[in-house]
Amino acid sequence: MMNAARTHFASGSALMPDALRERLVALRRDLHQHPELAFAEQRTSEVLARELSALSPVRVDKVARTGLIARIAGRNPDAPWVAIRGDIDALPIQEATGLPFASANAGVMHACGHDVHATWAVGAAALLSDAPADGDVLIVLQPAEEIGEGAAAVLESGLLDDVKAIFGAHVDRRFTVGQVVAQAGPLAASADVFEIVLSGRGAHGARPHESTDPIVCMAALISALQTIVSRRVNPASPAVVTVGMVSAGTAPNIIPDRAELRGTLRATDRETRALLHSELREISTHIAAAHHLEARVTFGAGVPPVINNARAAEWAMDAASHVVGAASVVPLGITNMAGEDFAWYQERIPGCFLRIGAREADQPMIPAHSPHFDVAEDAIVVGAAVLAECARRASTALFAACK
Ligand code: NI
Repeated sequence: MMNAARTHFASGSALMPDALRERLVALRRDLHQHPELAFAEQRTSEVLARELSALSPVRVDKVARTGLIARIAGRNPDAPWVAIRGDIDALPIQEATGLPFASANAGVMHACGHDVHATWAVGAAALLSDAPADGDVLIVLQPAEEIGEGAAAVLESGLLDDVKAIFGAHVDRRFTVGQVVAQAGPLAASADVFEIVLSGRGAHGARPHESTDPIVCMAALISALQTIVSRRVNPASPAVVTVGMVSAGTAPNIIPDRAELRGTLRATDRETRALLHSELREISTHIAAAHHLEARVTFGAGVPPVINNARAAEWAMDAASHVVGAASVVPLGITNMAGEDFAWYQERIPGCFLRIGAREADQPMIPAHSPHFDVAEDAIVVGAAVLAECARRASTALFAACK
């Protein structure tokens, strides 16, 4: 909040003109007050299109139903293109912050800071209009991150086919405003959902020997699945197997013929991700067989892990050091096991995903996806300046390499 302790990134700082800062803060509050869910970001998209059009970009394209891509001209038409991505969707949460610009849409809230991400992408576009990169920069305002589908839809459009590097970032209240995480390697986990259906034979609850009981099997299976992380995965590789939903049965005295489990798998490298899939299938099939049942295992297409490209991370690190000072470029510390669909871009384009500190020093830690989540607004300024500088540095290095 604006009345909280100010950092030296507040208005008057060298990172951006006061007028631009004020415009961005107003934009963020407007987006925050009118949050929209994945692929329903109609108003959000209109507001953002208006803001981007004011910067006289080369062009603004609609993408992925409710997304936008604005192309900001570089200094040299032959220089490679780079991209900056900001996600724009909100979550199905009832806001409880009490902010004057709290959500006006019941049950919908920007509880993950994507209002800030959209705003700093516009801010980066403004900074790049004033001080262009060597090549054109594509500002990607991506819908539907929260359901893990927006990035894939943007890529499908083909509009990023000529992009040689991509940068994006997330607000992070574990870090104070002015701190930035920009490092190579894993930054967020893969997130896959699984479903296991156990099929057996139902019977009267009083005559279990006439059944093949999927509930007893399910109990054994849930315990056995915990050995994947504890006994199959290398302890040095972070991994999660969580069963989050179970369902079976219709009455206390009936053994059902079917039980279902659903859960999520997380890993930060491709090998571990593949191992979680194969072990889950293996254990399910064999535990089911031991109970004279059949297991059908299916996986939902989830997001890959975010793994920052070494070169892109170097440009990001240099950019962050330039903007906030080397001492404020800090390590992530603990591995983030949440998913982030920026990973889809990184499957095709060398990229770096950053974390931008979003808590005033005297404010408490509030996790994202909480109804009380809020972001120190100076994070907008830092995010915009760092991402614009990432684009400039990547553009310059890529152009030099192709000359
Ligand atoms: Ni998020």
